[in-house]
Amino acid sequence: MTHIDLYTFKIDPASRVERFLLNCLDSAERERASSFKIAKLARLAIIARGVLRHILAPRAGVSPAEVEFSYNEYGKPFLRKGRDGAEPASFNLSHSEDFLAIAVGEGARIGVDIECPREIDGLDALSGRFLTAAEREMLSGLPERRRSDSFLRLWTWKEAAIKASGVGLSLDPARVEVGAESVALDLPEALASRGFADRLYVSDIPAAGLFHGAVASDCPGARIRLLADCQDPGAFLGLEGSGPSG
Ligand SMILES: CC(C)(COP(=O)(O)OP(=O)(O)OC[C@H]1O[C@@H](n2cnc3c(N)ncnc32)[C@H](O)[C@@H]1OP(=O)(O)O)[C@@H](O)C(=O)NCCC(=O)NCCS
Repeated sequence: MTHIDLYTFKIDPASRVERFLLNCLDSAERERASSFKIAKLARLAIIARGVLRHILAPRAGVSPAEVEFSYNEYGKPFLRKGRDGAEPASFNLSHSEDFLAIAVGEGARIGVDIECPREIDGLDALSGRFLTAAEREMLSGLPERRRSDSFLRLWTWKEAAIKASGVGLSLDPARVEVGAESVALDLPEALASRGFADRLYVSDIPAAGLFHGAVASDCPGARIRLLADCQDPGAFLGLEGSGPSG
């Protein structure tokens, strides 16, 4: 794999794009969206899966509603193999507040994570729980005002790597060590022996300070192609009237 395609979106709270996207979701995705008690989360779940289906459909040679997912035991979604038996594209998605990121590639394991900037309460306790000794030392050497941002950047690298490997948060993030360009996962034997990746190569997502974000893959040197840059999902899909009056 030489590149990873990355799409980032900013969801306009007034847009009605979810009305259109709901049509291509399967029954499990609809049920999951309607299980959210907070309307904003339900809407985000519809938009995330709907946009994902529209991005994957041309690669899979099917319509958005025909895209089929399978899941590993930790909940990581994959594209099901098509009838021709060819290896399907790999992908991952992440959302934070009004932002959505989707990464797609061929022939590699991919993970993406985004986090909106915020002051972190209880940073020392969180660092003690989730960071390695070297990461804690790096963080404590920074001026106080930079620590929340640095923690979130470290976190996105760890989570993108965990999501690329597919083990989910069954792996303690304190066993995940962030390096200059890659992240090492100290996998328990039970996971290592089953072929989960233990080294992932990570890049920051360019986002002009709107969010922290990282893309990870098991392919060193993969270049990121930014194909949508904080675009409105309705505009990306070429929809007229997905705005407030649509
Ligand atoms: C996915 C996970 C790593 C973190 O996600 P998060 O920060 O809350 O949310 P993000 O927005 O970054 O990512 C969520 C997306 O990642 C994907 N995802 C879900 N599980 C995943 C996994 N194990 N690995 C990679 N990606 C995963 C999904 O596409 C999900 O979005 P969707 O449900 O709308 O499709 C976390 O929820 C997790 O580890 N879940 C697994 C729990 C588990 O191990 N369950 C097994 C039961 S023992």
